[in-house]
Parts: sequence; structure tokens; C-alpha cells
Amino acid sequence: MRKKIVAGNWKMNNTLQEGLALTFRIIDLLKEKPVPDVKVIVAPPFTSLHPICELINKEGYVHLAAQDCHQEKSGAFTGEVSSDMLFDLGVKYVILGHSERRQYFNETDAQVLAKAEAALDVGLRPIICCGETLEQRNKGKHFAAVKKQLKNSLLKINPAEIAHVIIAYEPVWAIGTGENATPEQAQEMHAFIRSLVKRKFKKEAANTISILYGGSCNSKNAKEIFSQPDIDGGLIGGASLKAEEFVAIVRAV
Ligand code: PGA
Repeated sequence: MRKKIVAGNWKMNNTLQEGLALTFRIIDLLKEKPVPDVKVIVAPPFTSLHPICELINKEGYVHLAAQDCHQEKSGAFTGEVSSDMLFDLGVKYVILGHSERRQYFNETDAQVLAKAEAALDVGLRPIICCGETLEQRNKGKHFAAVKKQLKNSLLKINPAEIAHVIIAYEPVWAIGTGENATPEQAQEMHAFIRSLVKRKFKKEAANTISILYGGSCNSKNAKEIFSQPDIDGGLIGGASLKAEEFVAIVRAV
């Protein structure tokens, strides 16, 4: 059985107080009516990780992710945060290679791989993101684009570590646009990604790796998207900033 996961990527939103209030409310809603089969993750900005971690450690129900990490353990990298530091804080997951990191910070597949290796090294589970642009899809090159991203990142992970990796397929044209991929579009890409994992690693890895969908997922479209056989949950942006909406998505898995 594959693990069902819903992760909220807060991006650069929420002050500490706002983040604590949001996490508290999410926990409250999950306490009222638990969803034991779904792993619920929140990914606040770095500045809120520690206090939110303390809240989560006390209350349970939710797990903690960071939105990025640096590939080196320590050193002269002004402004960066290492996987070591995150793990030390109690963070369990880290989102890597989000399309915004690729677009605004020129992150490459090689960097995504190096960061994923640094994360796995300390026991952090990477959520490796991939996804094509609208132009690539319109030209019918979406499969090739995603394959290239994964070939140079996910598929180079040490096979002994692949069981700890999570994948998120997020078509760039669907992120924050209100235009989600159709369940069929998402399913065919998820099945394709799973076939790549199967070809490179053992069949068991392909069967057990969780592949999340992200891109304008909300409480209205979640159920249909999550009903697809190769979609194991979601990476949620905008809709993760409201507790009721986020928890409704969790319940749709
Ligand atoms: P969105 O973002 O849900 O706001 O489209 C998803 C993401 O960027 O992870």
C-alpha cells in the first residue's frame, strides 16, 4: 500500500503568529475528525519552522517540511540553510526543485539531486518536484520535459535511498493559475513517472513511491484528481493557507 500524503506549501506567506494559528486550526480540525490514512505535512517558511515544530511535537497529527535546503552541510553560503540544520530542528521533509526555485533562482536538476542527496544523508525525506511548462505541453513535449528533469535528479538517487523519496508532479501552467490539470492529464503523467521509477529501480520502488499532484488543487477538484490510481495525494499551495480548505483536501484523499 502506498502512503497517501497531502502537503501544504505555504511559500513566502504567513508571519510566525499567522503560521502558528493556521497550524493550530489544522490540528484542531484533524483532532475533531482524524484522517489516519493520510500523512498531513505543512511547509512553512524557515522563520516559523522551530515554533511550529514545537507545536506539532506537542499535538501530533501534522508533520513538518521545509521548502528548500542547501546541498552543503555548512560553510560560507550566506543566506542558506543546510539539511543538517533542518533535521536538527525536527523537520522531517524538504521540498526540492519546486518550479519557483527553478524559475526565480535558476535551480538546476543537478542542484536538485545534490540537495536531495544532502537531505537523505541526514535522514530528511525529499519531496522532489517536476513539471512541464505550458509551452512544452503545447508542443507535445511534456513527457520528454519531465523525463529530462527526473533523469538528472530523481533517477540518479542511490537505489538504497529511493524508498525515502516522494515525488510531486506540478505542471508549471497549473501552479497558482486556477487551471488545474485534468484528472486524466495528471494520471497519465503520474503513470509515466512511475514507469520511469520502475525501469530504473526495482518494481517494488515503483509500487511504493508516493507521487503527489500539485497545481491549483482545491477542495472542489481534489476528490476527482485523487481518485486516479497513480495519484497518491497532493502538494497544495494557495489552498493550504486556509485551514478548512486544506483539511477538506486532506479528507478528499
Ligand atoms: P498552487 O501551488 O496550489 O497554489 O497552484 C502548488 C505549488 O506550488 O506547490
